[in-house]
Amino acid sequence: MNSALALVERYFSATGGELRIGGMPVSILAARYGTPFFVYDRQVLDHKWSALRGALPTEFAISYSVKANPNGTLLRYFLSKGCGLEVASGGEFYQALAAGCSPRKIIFAGPGKTEPELEYVLKEGIGEIHLESLLEADRVANISEKLGVRARVALRVNPSGEAQGGAMRMGGKPVPFGIDEEILEAVLDRLLSSSWLDFRGIHLFAGTQILDYTLLLDQYRKGLEIARKVAGRLKRPLYTLDFGGGLGIPYFSNDQPLDMAGLRQGLIELMEELRSEPLLKGTQPMVEPGRFLVGEAGVYIARVNDIKVSRGRKFLITDGGMHHHLAASGNLGQTIKRNYPVALLCRLDSEPAETVDVAGPLCTPLDVLARSVHLPKAEVGDLIGVFQSGAYARSASPLGFLSHPLPPEVWVEAGQDYLIRRRGCYEDYLQDLVQLSLDRA
Ligand SMILES: Cc1ncc(COP(=O)(O)O)c(C=O)c1O
Repeated sequence: MNSALALVERYFSATGGELRIGGMPVSILAARYGTPFFVYDRQVLDHKWSALRGALPTEFAISYSVKANPNGTLLRYFLSKGCGLEVASGGEFYQALAAGCSPRKIIFAGPGKTEPELEYVLKEGIGEIHLESLLEADRVANISEKLGVRARVALRVNPSGEAQGGAMRMGGKPVPFGIDEEILEAVLDRLLSSSWLDFRGIHLFAGTQILDYTLLLDQYRKGLEIARKVAGRLKRPLYTLDFGGGLGIPYFSNDQPLDMAGLRQGLIELMEELRSEPLLKGTQPMVEPGRFLVGEAGVYIARVNDIKVSRGRKFLITDGGMHHHLAASGNLGQTIKRNYPVALLCRLDSEPAETVDVAGPLCTPLDVLARSVHLPKAEVGDLIGVFQSGAYARSASPLGFLSHPLPPEVWVEAGQDYLIRRRGCYEDYLQDLVQLSLDRA
């Protein structure tokens, strides 16, 4: 079975060959909201939340990583589960507050935080800032002194070589993220010398889209080793130990879902180790996943607008493309471009009949949503869906390219659909950002 059909079976349903999301036929959603659009199924979110919560020992806290998908409805969903939020910009912090998150439940990680962003989050009383450089630590200390508030901070560590993994490596080599483990002690001494910095913990994040739980456990063990070293140097307990995100989902035909039972067993053992350390007994372990929680809940739906053949190759040209879904086009960090699971959403019961490329409407050969994919025979007007599109899809795409309308987002819950972001134009999007900076001033 191809991977799109397997996903339909696992998470969705079909009647008469037509996909239903949360019980809603996609043709009705497409008629109601127009194409292209994103749709998210609450039931899939429930499933993923339970899978993660069930795999983590109860002591673990979860902070949803807003960058994966910042839609306010999704943020509120996670807040209702008792989750915190991890943000990477003042804009994400603003959206977290707008969704009703207490500032104390927000952590701010990511390189290149600006002074206005730092001032904004400190004024609002952010939970923790995860420092990425010495200069950033100095900035936070200076702003804190100016505001007369002590900043709760943790240090993001770029671990030494081992325990790396994921499709996109973000640690263990020269990277702009975190502080190299090799200079950790010197940096710590400097942090501890500032009375404006309340040093609380350690943060690791070494890679995303990890499907091998043993690799995740290796990283977590590395985190524990660093935490042990740091607490030993401080001669006092650490409050927080953030193991990062990185849990993957299967996109491609050979991908296997994460073994959550294996992960759970390893984490139980890790917790025993953590609790056996006198200085880490009370430390709050946490993870900050994005993709794992939301990736599988979303489908990007576009309509076939033209069909043509060029020198023997057939192209389905859709009204959606890489400006809404850069990752599916293979241009978001993939070295090998492989197809996301795609299907003709109203022909799920038809056999594949042709090999086609699914191309978007942008004037670039990069705008291809699927290459050499086997699909039933398509007609103009057919709906095509890109599955696994809840994370790093809309949020990681060049939405302004070619000034197309921005795709709306729809939420389906218990057989009801709700528009959770209207179709906008790029100027609206900019206006939101302008408003953000005005609000900050
Ligand atoms: C600091 C940090 N935390 C969490 C995440 C979320 O990662 P994922 O979606 O792979 O769980 C990222 C992703 O880049 C990140 O940079």
